[in-house]
Amino acid sequence: MSKQNELFETISEEINEELPVMEEALEAKQQYFLRDDHEDIDSLETHLSSQEAFNQYYKLNPGVKQKPELREQKILLSVRHLKQFFFFGKGRNRQKLKAVSNVSFDVREGECLGIVGESGCGKTTTGRSIMRLYNITSGAVYYRGVRISAGDRWNKKEIKWVPIHAKEKEAKLREKGGPEAEAEIQKLRERVEQVKPVQKAKIKQIKFDNGHVSQKLLNEIQMIFQDPIDSLDPRMTVEDIIQEGLQIQGHKNKEENHKKVVEMLQTVGLVEEHASRYPHEFSGGQRQRIGIARALVMNPKLLICDEPISALDVSIRAQIINLLNDLKNNLNLTIIFIAHDLSVVKYFCDSIVVMYFGKVVEKAPSDELFKNPLHPYTRSLLSAIPKPDPRSERRRKRITYNPAEAHDYEHGDVPSFREIRPGHFVYCNQAEFDRYQEELVD
Ligand SMILES: Nc1ncnc2c1ncn2[C@@H]1O[C@H](COP(=O)(O)OP(=O)(O)OP(=O)(O)O)[C@@H](O)[C@H]1O
Ligand SMILES: [Mg+2]
Repeated sequence: MSKQNELFETISEEINEELPVMEEALEAKQQYFLRDDHEDIDSLETHLSSQEAFNQYYKLNPGVKQKPELREQKILLSVRHLKQFFFFGKGRNRQKLKAVSNVSFDVREGECLGIVGESGCGKTTTGRSIMRLYNITSGAVYYRGVRISAGDRWNKKEIKWVPIHAKEKEAKLREKGGPEAEAEIQKLRERVEQVKPVQKAKIKQIKFDNGHVSQKLLNEIQMIFQDPIDSLDPRMTVEDIIQEGLQIQGHKNKEENHKKVVEMLQTVGLVEEHASRYPHEFSGGQRQRIGIARALVMNPKLLICDEPISALDVSIRAQIINLLNDLKNNLNLTIIFIAHDLSVVKYFCDSIVVMYFGKVVEKAPSDELFKNPLHPYTRSLLSAIPKPDPRSERRRKRITYNPAEAHDYEHGDVPSFREIRPGHFVYCNQAEFDRYQEELVD
């Protein structure tokens, strides 16, 4: 073969290798630019790859862990194995409170997700952990596929416990003896050797991610706090309260900020004159509206509403629900709506997560949950909803949930979060899983 032919062959080989990669990059770029959630995307250089453009738009450090597949699946928020523990006391008196223990769920763009559960089950703590108001103990929170918060307790536990468990297993295998046992011991040792460097690298990455969060991404998540009285500073005027976030973001122009404040007040049904007043001069419903305006002025994409209506009377409740519904439709917001009874979330939410004592016990689309409530706790919540018909109300049976009676988890059959139907998950063991499947209604 002549030298020219050789050269030609190597070049064409290289091109054939490169081609699929280039096509993939081109397609990714096209898809990225088709998305309408980047207003000033034109200002980004068109030669950037979609990932680079994303990083640049959100001023992201490229070293931060990302899961681009979540963006592709239009999952705005993904909470994975979230644990939030609180510690009290010192030394021997040190105690641990598992406020949230292993909570996982995804929220799609434009979806409204309800979180329900009794008082103290960890709903607010989940919301506050997503907002990064706590350093989470374990698990991770992804927003737009970017890890915005993570905890390292699980990784530290792995470093501690894997060698201990391995030693116990090794002792049992030694008793058994033989070449098979020897081979297994060898495998165990190799695994133990790997655990420490792998988990240490993961802990390092977690610390790096927590220290390099994009403020622009975080600003897209806002929360309406549970208590409309305590969540507003009594020494600040409504104007200052609503403007505070804007100023932190660097918007210093007073006139423009005032315009935005007035616009927000009108959006939530208040008027310009309210701007110069102090929080104590308002009614409960009006204060809740100020809280909503404060969140909306930051132009959020994800709004966490923590029991926005539980402190209000019935007539004002309807007003606030209608307001949130309008905002959801007009501003294309994704909402996490926290409540402690199911009747509120029934018509407002697309899917519902039921929590009990820091755990998610059931998760399903709204209609499916009301048609097929499977976990006894969900059933007890449903039985608590009053009906407007006096005759059926007289017949209504209230179910009380007692975990010790409802479950038999002490005989080896361990419960876990299982998918009964596509999208319908229940925390149960195998025996319960089989029973629930028989009880399902089409
Ligand atoms: N900062 C904190 N320090 C210590 N414990 C806390 C803290 N915040 C919450 N807790 C505890 O965590 C648990 C869950 O509290 P959380 O506020 O999340 O409940 P909740 O589901 O929002 O209840 P509610 O419906 O009454 O608002 C409670 O037992 C509470 O005492
Ligand atoms: Mg709460």
